[in-house]
Amino acid sequence: MTSILRSPQALQLTLALIKPDAVAHPLILEAVHQQILSNKFLIVRMRELLWRKEECQKFYQEHEGRFFYQRLVEFMASGPIRAYILARKDAIQLWRTLMGPTRVFRARHVAPDSIRGSFGLTDTRNTTHGSDSVVSASREIAAFFPDFSEQRWYEEEEPQLRCGPVRYSPEGGIHCAAGPGGPGPA
Ligand code: RTP
Ligand code: MG
Repeated sequence: MTSILRSPQALQLTLALIKPDAVAHPLILEAVHQQILSNKFLIVRMRELLWRKEECQKFYQEHEGRFFYQRLVEFMASGPIRAYILARKDAIQLWRTLMGPTRVFRARHVAPDSIRGSFGLTDTRNTTHGSDSVVSASREIAAFFPDFSEQRWYEEEEPQLRCGPVRYSPEGGIHCAAGPGGPGPA
């Protein structure tokens, strides 16, 4: 855990995943990416990967023993996923709101325009994942981006991204600081 003091205005980080059901469909993948951009999240890092079953088991450890656990870990290891570090004020809560309720039937009824309401197929194939707290976000970011130092990001990149100007690179799919002192992420 980082020990630096953060301004109340500081950008918050969250881990977002696009699950195999959505990565398998380029138009859905692109639509979710566009939702991230149009909802003013900054994309700090992005990568695509295949997850091994043991890694899924570790990630979803808190759900071990629940009836959906086995099918969830098998599904998450069944095809490529896309991982993002997103930044925004209140990023954790806002990304979860944008995703919509966990269960797709409910999402379609109470939040039809949410990501899960729009694209979710089943409770397991529900398009996206989002961290549920600051502590989970730190743990999950470290699991997917082991070279990313949250503390360094808050010291070096966050102030520039918060105060702008910020540039989005469509080729890399990430944002970086565009000001004089802004080299952007390595
Ligand atoms: P997530 O972790 O994926 O962002 O979603 P969440 O917080 O809304 O849901 P959570 O309770 O953490 O569950 C993690 C994933 O497990 C699957 N699940 N299926 N009732 C069910 O069948 C059920 N409950 C949970 C979902 O795929 C959920 O995203
Ligand atoms: Mg969760």
